[in-house]
Formats: sequence, C-alpha cells, structure tokens
Amino acid sequence: MKISIKSENIKKIKADMVVVGIFEGQSKLSGKAAELDPALGGLIKRLVSKKELTGKTGSSAVLHTSGKIASDHVLVIGLGKSEELDLDRIRMAASTAIKNAKKIKARSLVYSLDGQAAADLSPFDICRAMVEASVLQEHEFAGYKSENEDDTTSLEELVIIENNSKRIPALRAEAARAQTVAGAVNKAKDLVSAPSNRLTPMDFASTARKVAAGSRLSFSLLRAKDIRQKGMGALWAIAKGSSEEPCVVVLKYKSAGRRRSAPIALIGKGITFDSGGISLKPSKKMDEMKTDMAGAAAVLYAMEAIAKLKADKDVIAVIPLCENMPGGRALKPGDVVTSMSGKTMEIISTDAEGRMILADAITYAKKLGAGKMIDIATLTGACVVALGDLASGILGNNQMMIDDLITAAERSGERLWQLPLYKEYREYLKSGIADIKNCSDLGKAGTSSGATFLKEFVEDTPWAHIDIAGTAYLDRTVRHYRKGASGAGVFTVANYILGR
Ligand code: BES
Ligand code: ZN
Ligand code: ZN
Repeated sequence: MKISIKSENIKKIKADMVVVGIFEGQSKLSGKAAELDPALGGLIKRLVSKKELTGKTGSSAVLHTSGKIASDHVLVIGLGKSEELDLDRIRMAASTAIKNAKKIKARSLVYSLDGQAAADLSPFDICRAMVEASVLQEHEFAGYKSENEDDTTSLEELVIIENNSKRIPALRAEAARAQTVAGAVNKAKDLVSAPSNRLTPMDFASTARKVAAGSRLSFSLLRAKDIRQKGMGALWAIAKGSSEEPCVVVLKYKSAGRRRSAPIALIGKGITFDSGGISLKPSKKMDEMKTDMAGAAAVLYAMEAIAKLKADKDVIAVIPLCENMPGGRALKPGDVVTSMSGKTMEIISTDAEGRMILADAITYAKKLGAGKMIDIATLTGACVVALGDLASGILGNNQMMIDDLITAAERSGERLWQLPLYKEYREYLKSGIADIKNCSDLGKAGTSSGATFLKEFVEDTPWAHIDIAGTAYLDRTVRHYRKGASGAGVFTVANYILGR
C-alpha cells in the first residue's frame, strides 16, 4: 500500500472513497465534512438532522456521490463527542474505514488531518495512529486453502490530506516510519499464525536468516550440538522431548555512530508448540499453542524495524527456539536440571517451559555483554486471567525501563500494565533439593512468580519482562485489532529502542 501525504481539495481528489468524520451531538458540521457537504447537496446535514447519522463512535455510513465530487464514495464516520476524541478513537475510525473500503473493493482511500482540530491532538500523533491502524487492519493472513474463496482486491493507495504544507515533510517521515513498524507487526502476525508443522524451530531460523539478510543485521545460529556444548541445560531439557532440532537465533544490530555502549538485549520466547510436555495440557484449545513463539516473532520483527529505521543504539536479539513435547526422552516432573548459569532447577511442571528456555537465553545475553534486557513471552495463563486480552503484563527490576516501555507501547496503541515483583515471591519457588523450582505449586500470582523465576537469572542487569500470553493471539476483535495474531510487543520495543 502506497501512503502519501498531500495538500489537496477533498472535493477534487479522485479516489474510490473519501473519509470524513462527524462528532456526536453537533448539528453543525465541522472540518472536511463541512467542506464537502455543500457539493453533496447538503446530504450529510440532512442525514444528521434526520438522526440517520448520529456521530456516535462505531457508527458509519457509505454515501454514493453520483458524480457530485471527484470521488465515488464518501464514508462518514462517527467520532463520538468532540471533547472525548483521542488516538484510540482515531485508530478505531481508521480500522472502520479500511473495513468499509474492503467491502466496496476500493483501491484508493482518502483521509484528512485537519478535521480533528477540535481536540488538542498533535497532527503527527493522529497521522501515526491512522497509518498504524490502517496497515494493521488491511493485512490478512493468507492461510493454506487450496482455492481462494473471494477475490479480495487490495487497497493500493492511502492519501492523507494535509493543507498546512509546512508540515508535510515531517508528516511524510512520520507516516513512513509508522508504515515500516506496522509492516513489521504484520509480518510478526503471519509468523505467529503459522502452524507448528510449517514453522519448526529450524524454519523460524531460516526466516530469521532471511530477515537479517534483508536488513542491517548479523545472523548467527546455535544448533543442538552448540546448545549442549555451551551447557544450556534448561533449554535442552525442554527440547529433548521433541524430534525437532532446537536452536538459538542471535541477531546483532550495530548503530552507525562511533560512540558504543553495552547493547540492549531483546529476548523472545520461541516455543513453536507447547503441548505442556509430560505435564500435558488439556486438548481444548491446545491448537492455539502454535502461537507460543509470539515473543520470538515480536523480537525478530522489532529487530527488522530497528535496523530499517537505523536506530542509534546497539541491539542484540537472543531467540531460543524449541518444541515442548511429551515422549520417551522428555523431561519429567521431579527432574533436576542444571542451567547454563550453573543454577539448578527442580521441575514441578514441564508446562512451565518458557521461563526455562528464557533462563538460558538471559544467561547467554549477559555473556554477550547485554547492558539492559527486555524479554517478551507468552509466559503465563495467569496473565490472561489478570488482564484478559486488553493489556500485556510488565514486570522488572528497573522502574525507569518499565515506565519508558509503557510510554513506548501507548504511543502505538499497545497497552502494558505493571504487576508487582515483590522479593517475597521468591519464597514460592523455594526447592528442597535444587536452587529453585521451575514453578510454584501454590497456584498464586502466576505471572509474578514466573517473572521471579526469570529474575533469578537476570540478577542485577536492568531488565523488563513483558508477558503477552493474553494479547498475542485474539479470539475476537479487540479495539482496532483484528481477530487472530496481533503482533503484540513489536510496536512497544521498536518505539522504545527508536526513542520515538
Ligand atoms: N504457554 C503457556 C502460557 C499461555 C497460556 C500462553 C495461555 C497463552 C495462553 C506457558 O508455557 C504455560 O503453560 N504456563 C503455565 C505455567 C504453570 C505451569 C506454572 C500456566 O500459565 O499455566
Ligand atoms: Zn507451557
Ligand atoms: Zn508455553
């Protein structure tokens, strides 16, 4: 999709659909709706006075222009009360616009920026929200059906009208950045949607190799023998129950500047299928455990966006990948495993596998010289219970990092909610025979105790943990997100590193 910012007259621009917003409870039209309406013979005003158009959030109507203006259709979107307009409503409006454009098979679509003058939102923020939500909504997972059901025409061009020409260059830069990051989010979604037989750990590594080759990233791979040689006993303990070879993808991004500081490490949980292992999961919805590598996908494509947008910080990614399967060689409850750090773990549940592979990845990232670490993982069902599909959990040992990550997330419509990491949670993991239990048997504070396990391996390095168990894969449409994989975490870490 080509995205352009232009100064144009909304009546004269030729497109399949132009979009205008109206506010709830305003009999007088404003912005582009007011500019357009006389040419349409006062149709919008008439519909408003007859209450066929209410301006309520979520409401919209497609009007045929019958040649009265250059474009074929006008989509009128309700933006709610003008004083309540915020970026979330802009995102919702953009996704409504894209859905309607798809319905009429539009190839070109026009938005405008000055219609929202009522609220004190920055045009750059509005532009970013419009582009990001549109790119997300436009994308559909191709799937594997042997015949294409409907011939979906894709949207080719999105024009955003801005009549203040002084702002256009900066808006273009904002839109281009937004399109790059949102494009990376869509690629992460596709990887998360891929089933485990079509995306094994080694398949993920091949994809990562291609991503690295296409951007300024160096790629290296630890294979099964390297994992064993390096003593990554926790990762190996999970991987050995599967016949798929495990691996660790390492990506490095070097900024152009000469001033070097210790790199930030991004670590993503890459369980390509989580059956639970010997602590087998119930079969209901077990298919969704193909998405247990969503953290890995988020890290991979955040790295792509970071490289493409030339971040000014050095970043490394450590992505441990394996399947968690039951079998004759599988890890068993009660086993004691020695991790790469030398710390021993008593296995209470083989389904608490994510934290184990992350533990070795964290130790490895420290060996690679990480100055700060961020891990992203579909780690705990407890996080889904606590926050549902509306926010990811964030925990860590550095409040500044946590605050900055929350801000970075909100900038692009992601939500992070901090949960506590009280030192006393460590008592939940006290083992009689090893340094730590891999999970608590108390059934309390699952997300905090999972993060407490990770903290044991992080030690003093500034660190934040993002639990995307509830947000990575959506079983319904949520806000401006489509049903299915969401790409959770990509915007957050990309914005954080790019310092936007
Ligand atoms: N991958 C799951 C967590 C998960 C649950 C992700 C639901 C997405 C949706 C993780 O490996 C897991 O099984 N966690 C266990 C930990 C428990 C055994 C301490 C859980 O949350 O039940
Ligand atoms: Zn599990
Ligand atoms: Zn898991």
